[in-house]
Amino acid sequence: MIGLITAMRCEAEFFENIMTDKRSVKLGTSTFTRGKIGITEVVLSVCGVGKVFAGVCTNTMIVDLGCTHIVNIGVAGSLDKNIGVGDIVSAKASVQHDMDTSAAGDPVGLISGINVIELPCDEAFHDKFAQYLSAKGRTLKTGIIATGDQFISDNARKKEIVSRFGACAVEMEGGAVGQICYANGVPYNIIRMMSDCANDDADDTYSLNRDDCAVELADIFTGFISTLC
Ligand code: ADE
Repeated sequence: MIGLITAMRCEAEFFENIMTDKRSVKLGTSTFTRGKIGITEVVLSVCGVGKVFAGVCTNTMIVDLGCTHIVNIGVAGSLDKNIGVGDIVSAKASVQHDMDTSAAGDPVGLISGINVIELPCDEAFHDKFAQYLSAKGRTLKTGIIATGDQFISDNARKKEIVSRFGACAVEMEGGAVGQICYANGVPYNIIRMMSDCANDDADDTYSLNRDDCAVELADIFTGFISTLC
């Protein structure tokens, strides 16, 4: 069963409306809606914004609800001049740009305990989605997605994240989903539509585009996921 995690209600509403055989359960901090998208069994949850909510939600989906694959989906800020607002990015790996134990001698971004910086995403799922989009005449962009408990609306901070991690997009949950999936040995993917460019104007661009991007991405992803199994 696939677990679909969004941070915000606007990113989940389209899925919720299209799901059949729905039943909801509240576990801990989140409500989980089980049901089907087409013929595919899914669990959907709106985890809340940021790494802590995303990590807790991911753990519940895996440990309590038996999810065997997690997809984190929603909007993000582009860090790459070749990736614009409305483009879709599927992460090849996530990093946590605000994880920093460098004062203790570690590289910035190293997740102590598991001792990795990059948390790799599931390639087979990524490739299938890329093929699906290509058949619809749309390109799927890929690269490293950087996660942190900060909305990035600042050219200098954007530059710093790019130069440190080579990331192409930034958001606030995917790396936490990745960490819990990695620790549990469960595959995951992060799929995001760009709502802004994480620059000095990002707060305005984000407000303007967030809802439309969230719905458009959910609509596209529904077509893909509904035939998976
Ligand atoms: N989600 C969408 N845009 C973002 C940004 N600029 N920073 C962090 N998370 C985001």
